[in-house]
Amino acid sequence: MALNDADFGDKNSGLRSFDAFPKTRKTYKISSSRGGVLTILLSLLSIYLIYYELNHHLDGAETQSFLVEHAVGHYMQINLDITVAMPCEALHINVQDAALDHILAGDILTKDPTSFDDTNAHRLVHLPGREEHVYDILGKARKSKFGKTSRKPFAFLRKLDTGSCRIYGSMNVNKVQGDFHITAAGHGYAGAHIDHSTFNFSHVVNELSFGEYYPKLVNPLDDVAAVTEHNFFKFQYYLSVVPTNYYSENSGRLLRTNQYAVTEHSREVSPYQVPGVFFKFDIEPLSLTIRERRMSFTRFLVRVVNIVGGVMVGGNWAMRLVETIVGCWGKRKRTMDGVIGGGGGYSSEKRI
Ligand SMILES: *[C@@H]1O[C@H](CO)[C@@H](O)[C@H](O)[C@H]1NC(C)=O
Repeated sequence: MALNDADFGDKNSGLRSFDAFPKTRKTYKISSSRGGVLTILLSLLSIYLIYYELNHHLDGAETQSFLVEHAVGHYMQINLDITVAMPCEALHINVQDAALDHILAGDILTKDPTSFDDTNAHRLVHLPGREEHVYDILGKARKSKFGKTSRKPFAFLRKLDTGSCRIYGSMNVNKVQGDFHITAAGHGYAGAHIDHSTFNFSHVVNELSFGEYYPKLVNPLDDVAAVTEHNFFKFQYYLSVVPTNYYSENSGRLLRTNQYAVTEHSREVSPYQVPGVFFKFDIEPLSLTIRERRMSFTRFLVRVVNIVGGVMVGGNWAMRLVETIVGCWGKRKRTMDGVIGGGGGYSSEKRI
């Protein structure tokens, strides 16, 4: 027979109605296979939620805050490591900032002949969306002097000189907007021209970062390659630099660095214009602080217990609802069967 709530307990007993612990309804005992499926589903749900909670626990909670940057007039370091598909003698590097300090970057940066190898690089447009957490960044950041540990392209290790040039090093500029560009020696400036057919400003950016050099930090232009079939081609990158502090409240570690966003505008130019690789950077007058705080393990455990409890109680309610609906439906069906044909009307109840 179908059971309903009226069958449970004695309505007249006041004590019974105060019972805080739900009693298992008989229907559950009968429907062991359905209960088994439900238990598996609820367990899967619990596991999923615990997994989600664990990820959340491991990532910690992050808050971001912006501050108007007061540190004006400081120097900023640019770390550059770029390979251009032209011989070193044919290249000219020029750096200029808005304070009009002309920096002889050609003397500060090291130039090494190498081969053009973009096999490990990717195109800027294919840059995947990255989500890095303070925890990862602090874990990855390892400060070191440029040059000592700077990566060398494989081709360089093989000591191949196939007419490309790797330019690398760090230079200080005023912390104001500025630009640096790599052009053909002589071209666009007074001096001897070199053969136009050798112009090839295809390049691989191995590293481009602002501030102290942390080799393990990933910047948007790292390992980006750009190849052109044209001799007269101007690669133009606009960089927007945001001073960024990563801070972990749990470990007290603070990392002062700079992030940047990049937009590219590259095009073929006429032989009367200057081809090359141009970087224009702008320092945002804001600084971003990203703080991370991790939940304690005890709180994590409390949450797990809450999840399991919540899922079980919720599942219990869902089960009751289903039983009630199935019960009502069965009752109606039986009544109809009784009216129309009669007989066999109880089969649906027996399956419950
Ligand atoms: C420049 O070099 C790259 C890589 O070697 C090559 O794919 C490209 O065709 C060259 N472009 C020109 C204009 O020679």
